[in-house]
Amino acid sequence: MHVVGARPNFVKMAPVIEALARRGESQLVVHTGQHYDERMSDEMFSDLQLPAPDLFLGIGSGTHGAQTARAMTAFEDVLLERRPRLVVVGGDVNSTLACALAAAKLGIEVAHVESGLRSGDWTMPEEVNRVLTDRLSDVLLTHSPEAEGNLLAEGIEADRIHAVGNTMIDSLRKFEGEARRRERWRSLDLDEHEYVLITLHRPSNVDDPARLDVLVDELCRLGRRAPAVFPVHPRTRAKLEQTGRLGDLEASGLRCVEPLGYLDFLSLEIGAGAVLTDSGGVQEETSALGVRCYTLRPNTERPVTIEQGTNVLLGDDPATIAEVTPSSLPPAPCLIPLWDGHAGERIADLLGSATRPLAASASGA
Ligand code: UD1
Ligand code: UDP
Repeated sequence: MHVVGARPNFVKMAPVIEALARRGESQLVVHTGQHYDERMSDEMFSDLQLPAPDLFLGIGSGTHGAQTARAMTAFEDVLLERRPRLVVVGGDVNSTLACALAAAKLGIEVAHVESGLRSGDWTMPEEVNRVLTDRLSDVLLTHSPEAEGNLLAEGIEADRIHAVGNTMIDSLRKFEGEARRRERWRSLDLDEHEYVLITLHRPSNVDDPARLDVLVDELCRLGRRAPAVFPVHPRTRAKLEQTGRLGDLEASGLRCVEPLGYLDFLSLEIGAGAVLTDSGGVQEETSALGVRCYTLRPNTERPVTIEQGTNVLLGDDPATIAEVTPSSLPPAPCLIPLWDGHAGERIADLLGSATRPLAASASGA
């Protein structure tokens, strides 16, 4: 039983579901409904060629406590009724933690895709979700050596950790050709490698109105000196509407658009001369594509994208956006070990019924 809930989950879990389906495994996909807008969910499913979820829990938005509790309660009902032999969760969103916790309490084994990432920043809601989900999981599936190191340092037994690679890059490799052919930048009157692609949605950047104000000023400066397109996450749009600053961004020349489906967004990443982001997944995708990425955060749980990829950590100060310039140099893709398009297959090899039981320490399942 797979759990998905928010946009990055769909991208990470699609290759796992596909690889297990190819092996004829019986599986159920549960969508918690944390993300529910057409562009945040349905369009992602269709672009990723994910079959419609078997169950939709409709938990929606809310405070962390309310959202997590709704997901736990609804998912517990599903578990009691369906009794899966394994629950697979991915990433670090509230749905991930809620469903891992519900399963663990019922003694059902949990596998965590993208285990072991750590920013060391406990103010990030995702960091809380990562640490607790890993503690609750029986099978920990990692995408980089530092993730394995983080888990070992927390006392997790080595035989529960499996280096499988990055499933997000499986999706990227599968759809890269189609996305490139779209040349989505053309329909926005942008020239290849000459524009900046922007995504910003972390609460630490957009939730505080004073901080958002400074950020908008810097984005306006960027909009005046370089072509730029900004698919605006619903959290960010809500905050920009509350502070009345969306119009200023548009007036600067920066193109504010709705969140894009996966193929359109990937197309814009491929054609970008630079990317400015605070997204986790976008740091990884730009490294795999060889597109320069500037991350507006004080830290990253994905240091491999700095050490071996194209990521530059700007830090916390929005004034550093002045460093972001599109480059017309051709991209130089980075070859990070196990980010090779086959992580889903390796996970299916591990989780498939032929290789079960998996976790030496799993009990009560
Ligand atoms: C969540 C994840 C974050 C991830 C991001 C991916 C948590 C704690 N955070 O953040 O790690 O990077 O998803 O995009 O799980 N909204 C809509 N329509 C939607 C979804 C959300 O309008 O389909 C609006 C609502 O006003 C909602 C707000 O966005 O309150 C935030 O949504 P939520 O899922 O709580 O957090 P994200 O910021 O999306
Ligand atoms: N993405 C997308 N449309 C957009 C912005 C992002 O399809 O308008 C994709 C992106 O290519 C990546 C994933 O969404 O695969 C990243 O999700 P997000 O940035 O929402 O979450 P995070 O990775 O920060 O948790």
